[in-house]
Amino acid sequence: MSTWNEGYTTDVQYTSFFHAELAPSHIAFAAAANGFRAPDMSGAFAYCELGSGQGVTLNGLAAMHPEARFWGFDFNPAQIANAQRMADAAKLANAHFRDWSFAQAIEHADELPRFDVIALHGILSWVSDENRAEIIRFIDRTLKPGGVVYASYNCLPGWTQIAPYRHLARQHYLRHPGRSDLHVPRILEFSDAFAELGGAYFKVNPTVSLRLDQMRKQPAAYFAHEFLNANWRAFYVDEIAREMSGARLDFMASATLIENVPGASLPPGTPAFLQQHAAEDVIWQELAKDFACNKMFRRDLYARGVNTMSGPEQAAILGGFRFVLTVPREAVKLTFAGPMGEANGAPAVYEPIVDRLMQGPATLPELVAALPDKNGPNALQAITMLLHSRQAVMYAAKVDPKPARALNKVIAESYFQGSNYGIILAPAARQALPANGADLGLLAAALEGKARSVAEAAAHVSDRLRIAGRAPQVDGQALQGAAAVEHLAAQYAEGFDGKMTIWKALGIL
Ligand SMILES: C[S@@+](CC[C@H](N)C(=O)[O-])C[C@H]1O[C@@H](n2cnc3c(N)ncnc32)[C@H](O)[C@@H]1O
Repeated sequence: MSTWNEGYTTDVQYTSFFHAELAPSHIAFAAAANGFRAPDMSGAFAYCELGSGQGVTLNGLAAMHPEARFWGFDFNPAQIANAQRMADAAKLANAHFRDWSFAQAIEHADELPRFDVIALHGILSWVSDENRAEIIRFIDRTLKPGGVVYASYNCLPGWTQIAPYRHLARQHYLRHPGRSDLHVPRILEFSDAFAELGGAYFKVNPTVSLRLDQMRKQPAAYFAHEFLNANWRAFYVDEIAREMSGARLDFMASATLIENVPGASLPPGTPAFLQQHAAEDVIWQELAKDFACNKMFRRDLYARGVNTMSGPEQAAILGGFRFVLTVPREAVKLTFAGPMGEANGAPAVYEPIVDRLMQGPATLPELVAALPDKNGPNALQAITMLLHSRQAVMYAAKVDPKPARALNKVIAESYFQGSNYGIILAPAARQALPANGADLGLLAAALEGKARSVAEAAAHVSDRLRIAGRAPQVDGQALQGAAAVEHLAAQYAEGFDGKMTIWKALGIL
């Protein structure tokens, strides 16, 4: 039983996800689209992630920004060791990990650079009041004037129905000691049986079962870190704003890009209502928006000294971004998942924009020029939605691709060992693309020069899997020999040429 973990789950490690919203260009775009100036992160800058977990996000960002320095702190030494091993495997000289608690990080503040960005993903809702106070002290000591804090957390009112379930799960766990992730199926079994028998809580709070269905699709470790910690709290946005003001931070924008498009993220009618009743006070407006869409999770950007840009300056900054598609033209979807379900993009706006992006990287003015009605706000909204759905990324062009390719090799190789990081780094975009197992196998083949055709890639990956003692699976059956090659070939054939073209354009190959 650990004593250093302050009630945080450490008997099972956190999952290895990359979070695209933490990318400097994503932060810069979210700020600029809302009229705010973010720090200049085009060259050398300093970035810190507090509670960096397995370090996948930080390593990925370090690999795609070789001229900047990245620091990750997490008190779980096993996770820090994994993060450092990943950095070493890709020979990343600019990713620094330390197994420090937030309190220890403050003790080392004088040795650290002043940061342009401090990111906190999945931290604030799961630590004690004292630790949130330490975080604010760390930010106060180490964030530059003009620097940005990214902070995500569970919020209210969206958790109203489910928060009691978290309490029930935690109490159940406390009464059945054992490894937290191994306990997860027992908790789920218990609550399923309870609901089935007509437990009124489950009946009058139907979103609980929906949420549990989503949780079942995640690794048990995710459930353990989400629900079984000693500390768990969902916040109203104004509560976090008040805490952030302790480090002289003000709210800037949401990093969940769809939330910057009211028509796609709020019920019809409410944007005008909110404009009428809450236009002057940004936190009141954010709180009202959270009630409008019953929000559960916020990704906020706070700045130490919020600087609003003039219209021309905003236009110049936004006009400096270039955008490019991440999926072949035929795979682009104009339905976007958001807080109110699916939003549909108007083909009259999106089709010309997607067609323009197909020709190569384009700026916002170039996208506006592609529209028949030359409507700037429409183009900004459309590209925001394409970025949100990860069908487009920002194009950075002049980036040394070698560190990202080295890390991609580590990521692709780990596929043969049974790991799936779920990403491929795109150095020319300084962003990671979502990737499934088939993509990672194909990438491994391509990096070894064995993907000149679908057949060559399939044969190569099948061979590599066999040597690693693994095989493609269908319905729990391991496929061998020709059946394995055929199965892989069918997966790779879909959009093969388009994928290779995009991977080359984004510096992946
Ligand atoms: C939910 S995980 C998020 C990890 C990472 N940010 C991500 O999104 O993948 C929370 C992390 O905070 C770390 N943590 C919790 N309390 C901490 C503390 N007091 N000091 C340092 N790290 C802490 C945990 O070890 C864990 O890795």
